[in-house]
Amino acid sequence: MFRAIATSLALFAATAVATAQSAPVSFDSATKVFRLDGGGSSYVFGVNARGELQQVYWGGRLGATDAFPAARPMPEWASFDSSYTNTPQEYAGWGSGLFMEPALKVTFPDGNRDLVLHYQNHTATAEGFDVVLQDISRPIVVTLHYAMDRESGILARSATIENRGTDPVMVEQAAAASWALPAGQYTLNYLTGRWAGEWTLNQEPVLAGARVIESRRGSTGHQANPWFALQAGEANEDHGEVWFGALAWSGAWRITVERDQLDAVRVTGGFNPFDFGYVLQPGKTLETPVFYGGYSAHGLGGASRLLHHFELAHVLPNPRSTAGANGAPLPRSPKPRPVIYNSWEATEFRVNEAGQMALAEKAAALGIDRFVMDDGWFGQRKDDHAGLGDWYVNQEKFPHGLKPLIDKVHALGMDFGLWVEPEMVNPDSDLYRAHPDWVLNFKGRPESEQRNQLVLNLARQDVHDYILGFLDKLLTENDIAFLKWDYNRNWSEPGWDQLPAAEQKRVYVEFTRNLYGILAELRHRHPKVEIESCSGGGGRVDLGILKYVDEVWPSDNTDPFDRLTQQSGFTYAYTPQVMMAWVTDSPHWMNKRATTLQYRLLSSMQGSLGIGSNIAAWSPDETAVAKRLIAAYKEVQTTIVQGDLYRLLSPLGGSEFSATETVKADKSQGVVFLFIHSTQEGHGFPTLKLKGLDANAEYALTAIEGKARAGTPGTASGAWWMNHGLEMDEGFRGDFQAAAFRLDRK
Ligand code: GLA
Repeated sequence: MFRAIATSLALFAATAVATAQSAPVSFDSATKVFRLDGGGSSYVFGVNARGELQQVYWGGRLGATDAFPAARPMPEWASFDSSYTNTPQEYAGWGSGLFMEPALKVTFPDGNRDLVLHYQNHTATAEGFDVVLQDISRPIVVTLHYAMDRESGILARSATIENRGTDPVMVEQAAAASWALPAGQYTLNYLTGRWAGEWTLNQEPVLAGARVIESRRGSTGHQANPWFALQAGEANEDHGEVWFGALAWSGAWRITVERDQLDAVRVTGGFNPFDFGYVLQPGKTLETPVFYGGYSAHGLGGASRLLHHFELAHVLPNPRSTAGANGAPLPRSPKPRPVIYNSWEATEFRVNEAGQMALAEKAAALGIDRFVMDDGWFGQRKDDHAGLGDWYVNQEKFPHGLKPLIDKVHALGMDFGLWVEPEMVNPDSDLYRAHPDWVLNFKGRPESEQRNQLVLNLARQDVHDYILGFLDKLLTENDIAFLKWDYNRNWSEPGWDQLPAAEQKRVYVEFTRNLYGILAELRHRHPKVEIESCSGGGGRVDLGILKYVDEVWPSDNTDPFDRLTQQSGFTYAYTPQVMMAWVTDSPHWMNKRATTLQYRLLSSMQGSLGIGSNIAAWSPDETAVAKRLIAAYKEVQTTIVQGDLYRLLSPLGGSEFSATETVKADKSQGVVFLFIHSTQEGHGFPTLKLKGLDANAEYALTAIEGKARAGTPGTASGAWWMNHGLEMDEGFRGDFQAAAFRLDRK
């Protein structure tokens, strides 16, 4: 019975009344309803009669003249679930009988823990609203920020919590936002993993209760990624309604997906409340991270395409800020990544001037744009037991400093990048011997090492200054175009004993804020330097760090077959532009799997290509194959990494075949990748119906690698490629086979 009641109430809430409301952002002062429109979606919330801010609608875009009556709270359910807990509040304080996940939970010095936030006022901003809420009797003020992207309909939400009282208040839980969906059947998608096994897509029905996706690790973590997507009913990759969100925070985080007693769904995300505690002093504010949310009527594929474009245009550092001085139109996207060479898998810690110079010569001959020297160049770094923290050039390995190598790399026509791991220290280092108190730890307790290293407490000002100082010096004294910024363990014993006991948990906020601050300052002081976020692979990938870095390292697992599933998972949340993918040696160290160089190249060409093989040992034939495919990649790279991605055949679940297609925004070009895992029972590759092309335009098909079926037209309409499809040559069979094609509009 209650299902029927809930459904009819939800329908009532969504019934429109006919008052004019056409601006993309509007507030109806009569009904106190806020509306934001962007792309194909509308987001509507309002102030209910009690004064709470309540979500009213989130979904497909409504008519310009559609409007809503005032927000109506959900009724009490018998005597057990209050209206307060049943009503989908925008930002619910824990109090008044709330059993759903609160957005904000505080303890006042007198022991009061009841917090009920009511609307006060709001201001319109360029892209949305700032809405001010305040507790019904105490001077805790929360400003909710809403900014709608007109193009994608992705809404950025966050909160500023302010203590306007005279006593400190302990914030125990602070979300960025809560999102709500009416009662219904949904499938939750989320990404999990571990070191060398990141980006597993999980799909499960949203059942009663809560599903928690989180990191307690002090950073984003490999174990789960702060992204979710909820599919309605039968929605799939291409069709149906999908609501999605991504939290922009690189510290400990939590997203809680709840299905309540009335089958409605709420998603609340922000700082992880586990071990959280932030003392908000009088007059001080706490800013939450941003929680982005969006809606697509075109399945999971549509959702990821919206996110990709949003990340390119609005999240990543963008050359727009430095371009356009001559009046030229400002580019909407960052430039495609240079094709890099990285020495890690070839040399590990055994780097030196002669060896790196020899690799650089080989790399230049392949058409590489950027040469990156990885771990091992500094301090007493012979292996992972020593040196982290001592950021001076190792004299034995580089007797003349880095300059001769950098000059050589430049003379070969490449720019130079360098590996650093700034937030870490080995106990066997000068830095630790000088400042043992700089690491995260509890006084008198063990300091647990992982990979023989400890985490510096970057929340401390002196540690912040040290890290900013050495990086600034490194970039000032050397012509370095790129930093690979690594972070190779998670927290343990996260103490900060210089602060009073009650204040120490601020470390969860200040550490990450200082990280962002250093990244921003380095970019400001060295505007040409680009940065990669790496954390033993994909341990620090989120929309928070992506504001400050140009690319990420998705996984230390470079096995080209494993990478197909990892890369597929990655692209649900993140654009291929940031997805670095190296070609490394075969058989691969991880799975002992042997693959051809062509297969490895094509697997990596689905993202931003790099080479990490021991190229010194390559035969002339291998060098020629790589040179040819790197050149072919560069011709279509912008389409691959910035176009509309269609996951045509998923590699998930050990499937026999997989394929992706990317189409340039103006539909002038498409690039298709096809992979065979292991041909079984003679199956040929299925006819591949392409997507996203202009049906009425003519496209020429060119093989980058592999052969289409004899008789395939060299040129055909978009309609032909999409409806008839691309057929492969009968010889395209076997284990770990790959092919790639481009389509160019005539
Ligand atoms: C991490 C990175 C690797 C490499 C090593 C160096 O594992 O993910 O790519 O840089 O550190 O120690």
